[in-house]
Amino acid sequence: MNFREIAYQECIRVDCRKVYAVDEVLTGCLECGSLLDVKYDWESGPAPESWAMFQDKWSQRFDPLARSGVWRFHELLPFALREQIVTVGEGQTILQQADTVSRYAGMKSGNLFLQYEGMNPSGSFKDNGMTAAFSHARSVGSQRAACASTGNTSASLAMYCAVSQQMKAVIFIGSGKIAYGKLSQALEYGALTVQITGDFDDAMLRVREVCKELDIYLVNSINPFRLEGQKTIMYRVIESLGWEVPDWIVVPGGNLGNSSSFGKAFIELFELGLIDRVPRLAVINARGANTLHELYENRSMRWNDGRIDRSIQQQYYQELDADQKKASTIASAIEINRPVNLDKCLRALDYCAGVVREVSDQDMLDAKAQVGAGGIGCEPASAASVAGVKLLREQGIIAASDRVVCILTGHQLKDPTATVAYHTTDQKKFNEVLGARGMTRANYANRAVAVSNDLDEIIRAIKIYG
Ligand code: F0G
Repeated sequence: MNFREIAYQECIRVDCRKVYAVDEVLTGCLECGSLLDVKYDWESGPAPESWAMFQDKWSQRFDPLARSGVWRFHELLPFALREQIVTVGEGQTILQQADTVSRYAGMKSGNLFLQYEGMNPSGSFKDNGMTAAFSHARSVGSQRAACASTGNTSASLAMYCAVSQQMKAVIFIGSGKIAYGKLSQALEYGALTVQITGDFDDAMLRVREVCKELDIYLVNSINPFRLEGQKTIMYRVIESLGWEVPDWIVVPGGNLGNSSSFGKAFIELFELGLIDRVPRLAVINARGANTLHELYENRSMRWNDGRIDRSIQQQYYQELDADQKKASTIASAIEINRPVNLDKCLRALDYCAGVVREVSDQDMLDAKAQVGAGGIGCEPASAASVAGVKLLREQGIIAASDRVVCILTGHQLKDPTATVAYHTTDQKKFNEVLGARGMTRANYANRAVAVSNDLDEIIRAIKIYG
């Protein structure tokens, strides 16, 4: 395939559709300000006709691009030339059948799967998108790349900059709004870390201004190339199911990059004839950061064939401002009130017969403990997906016999504070971290047993608790 020459960018608004070249650095349409898609003129290059070509890549694993779980699907994101790609072996993640979690969520055994994106090199799904945006940044000769972040995007960007030694990372974080595991990564990988007073939404506004002013490449998911990389999470899910599509994809919703990219993946796969049906999509908000839930489920904001009623969003944002309401949840990764990919997510929900739900911090941490008890640890935001399945089962929307895939977006070690506070015997610590958020109990806590350093006492304790 003639990589790159068939790629271009296009405004997603149906009555605009302005087209831009693939090597223009934009985060929105210059005419109308809407989001951009990376598009491909499949007719001009041999489009992938079957999954077999991707299956064959396994035998070429000595080639770093065939080993990468993103770039082994290069033909489905053909915007980059081989020599421009920066890969660190991202996307070598697994789909795990999870029967303990299945029982917890009320699913039939064997029907619930966890797509463990915490296994990426920087410990979250972000690497899927970062390799794509970073490769694009490199291809256009950028010297610096920036993002606002709740922690994982910044860890990923910092890692790609450090590994490739090709660009300087500038990251914007809200003060006190980032889990320690993530902050430690950015610092250690050498990113210029700018901590601003405010939260993610404030940092996001600022970083856009700064990037414009200083001509820095922006890698937040408003960047359409990021989402190209994240499509591959769905390709790997389908691959792991023997090239079959599940009934449901359930994903946490923050800035709405994942849900947007999954929708785009399914639109393209269907157009290319690689799938003959589309799964349903469930996007799960934290109750303390529930803009999508509010707009989609309570105020009926819809994609509407690309003619979105913007007044619904404007009205809601005015209310947020008037009430000085800020996002607030233990799941700091998704502590976001103004998701930049809202429009694309509405398109995905439309195409995939989607639903949106909100879950509490208690729901997420209990679900997280169940995921952990099954041996795959995740961070609080990731567990929103499992808590979401439980809720949708209780509501009868997901059937016990459906085949459901939850995306575990980030690794358990990203946020040890939340995990230790959940399992602690120290009520003060629990109250500080979780009680302050209205949580009253840890339903699945695995508490440490304190004993003095005495053989008899230790043996007695093991007999009692073991
Ligand atoms: N889960 C985790 C672990 C995340 O880090 C994020 C986003 C999400 C879910 C939400 O994904 O934005 O695609 O809806 N983290 C961003 C960051 C905002 O800066 O790391 P989304």
